[in-house]
Amino acid sequence: MKLQTYISAGKIQEKVAELASVIDNYLGDSEAVMIANLKGSVIFFSDLIRAMKSRNITTDFLSTESYAGTEHTGTVKITRDLSMDIAGKKVVLVEDILDTGLTLSHIMRYIRDIHQPADVKICVLLDKPANRKVELSADFVGFTIKNEFVVGYGLDYYEKLRNLPYIAWVEEE
Ligand code: IMP
Ligand code: MG
Repeated sequence: MKLQTYISAGKIQEKVAELASVIDNYLGDSEAVMIANLKGSVIFFSDLIRAMKSRNITTDFLSTESYAGTEHTGTVKITRDLSMDIAGKKVVLVEDILDTGLTLSHIMRYIRDIHQPADVKICVLLDKPANRKVELSADFVGFTIKNEFVVGYGLDYYEKLRNLPYIAWVEEE
């Protein structure tokens, strides 16, 4: 297996800073909850919140399962729920990648129905619009990419390569 650099660590950090500033502007002084969907988004999430200037945000985590290897199973399950009350609050849901849209649309429905926040915006580092199966778009997008499987910076290949500091294509040999 060979890794081909697709987005360098430097380019990622530039984009993270841009996104942080856009989200800061959107939130202003209001209290908000930054939510990460585990595990893929943790690295992006931790860089993003540290690049933000707002000192009025809290953080929470949820976890979903939908993938087996590199294929979407079609079903999405919440395997870890939020730990805080977000009712009536502004929420920014942070995810590594928007692919088919099945994961985020399931989470959006779940959060809105069960947790009833005032508003939910979606922030993704990567967007693969070519592979969408449901109508969904993110409010804050880092990079729009081709319909290819990528790894690194949180994204996994059979649970490995999440700690790669850049984003790469996997070339099977
Ligand atoms: P969706 O439900 O198809 O939009 O997929 C979202 C989830 O699939 C993400 O949270 C990722 O964990 C995973 N995923 C989608 N595309 C890739 C990829 O290219 N590399 C690694 N994981 C991916
Ligand atoms: Mg994953």
